[in-house]
Amino acid sequence: MKLTVRSPSNIALIKYWGKLGDQLPCNPSVSFTLTHAFTEMSFELCDKNSSEDIELVFFFEGLENQKFQDKIIKFILKEKEYFKNVLSKKIILNSKNTFPHSSGIASSASSMSAMVYGLLALDFKLSHKSDEVSSQTFLNLASRLSRLASGSASRSVFPGVVLWGDYKDIGTNDCAVDVSHMVDSRFLTFRDTIVIVSKNEKSVSSRAGHGLMENHPYREVRFQEARKRMDELLMAMKNYDLEAFIKIVEKDALDLHGLMMTSEPSFMLIEAKTIDCIKKLRTFRERTNIPVCFTLDAGPNLHVLYPIEYREEVVAFLTQLDLPLIHDEVGKGSEIYE
Ligand code: DP6
Repeated sequence: MKLTVRSPSNIALIKYWGKLGDQLPCNPSVSFTLTHAFTEMSFELCDKNSSEDIELVFFFEGLENQKFQDKIIKFILKEKEYFKNVLSKKIILNSKNTFPHSSGIASSASSMSAMVYGLLALDFKLSHKSDEVSSQTFLNLASRLSRLASGSASRSVFPGVVLWGDYKDIGTNDCAVDVSHMVDSRFLTFRDTIVIVSKNEKSVSSRAGHGLMENHPYREVRFQEARKRMDELLMAMKNYDLEAFIKIVEKDALDLHGLMMTSEPSFMLIEAKTIDCIKKLRTFRERTNIPVCFTLDAGPNLHVLYPIEYREEVVAFLTQLDLPLIHDEVGKGSEIYE
């Protein structure tokens, strides 16, 4: 049995930074699902050669990757009750990303959601539930299991604007939810151009990063503020209030990096060029009145967000920065490709 899944990355507008218990977020987060930055993972099931609990080989871009393989095996064995049927087979995974390493695009979100989506779809097929694949129940389970593999991956399963974390009667910590219907539809065609400030990304492991929130002096303020900001952001997105949208999104990105800088130990992922680009972007916005803003992931590269109708002006401006650009846009979530 064979299957190929494509699962996109996503960019958070309100960030998940700090977790509790079994991959539960300390505050709700919301993101745009991307289109062109995705992981394509092929799955092949064949007869097992041994009586081991799991027989799995993982290839990344054609090469066997032990580190990732061990991570996946550990995850599947922990959640084995959901993968009983696939575990009776030998599993061969082949994965590749459409985006370069250290590009400021979260690969754990796309790869972990692709892995979960594919294995779950195969498990459903083996238990004669093919028609339930991509049902709401299936998607919720895929999001929940993706969350257990990597928090932000829970959001990649769904299209458009996606919220994850306890929030009013809208979101839960358990799995993410598509909130696209709650925002003006113009956000669903938003563009995201990534400015590659540096390829030598000194990334901090997400576990270490989230861990630093445990004793952070601003911990409670951050989580309270993120919740309040979610109210404001969803309101701004419902009313297509771009001025408010820009203010909130930029504030949250700077908060994320501020929290890193004021943690113990302190670390700094933005670079002088990141700040230079932010200043130039703000000057461009003031001069042209084009509603464009930036956000940042856990790295120095800028995600520049703007409505589709301004793409020519924004891309012309970004080209002058003389840095590599990757163009993406809001898109659909995980899907079976073939
Ligand atoms: C800054 O989802 O990578 O991108 O759950 O430990 O895998 P783990 O963390 P991860 O953290 C993402 C952090 C972030 C913000 C976000 O995407 O919300």
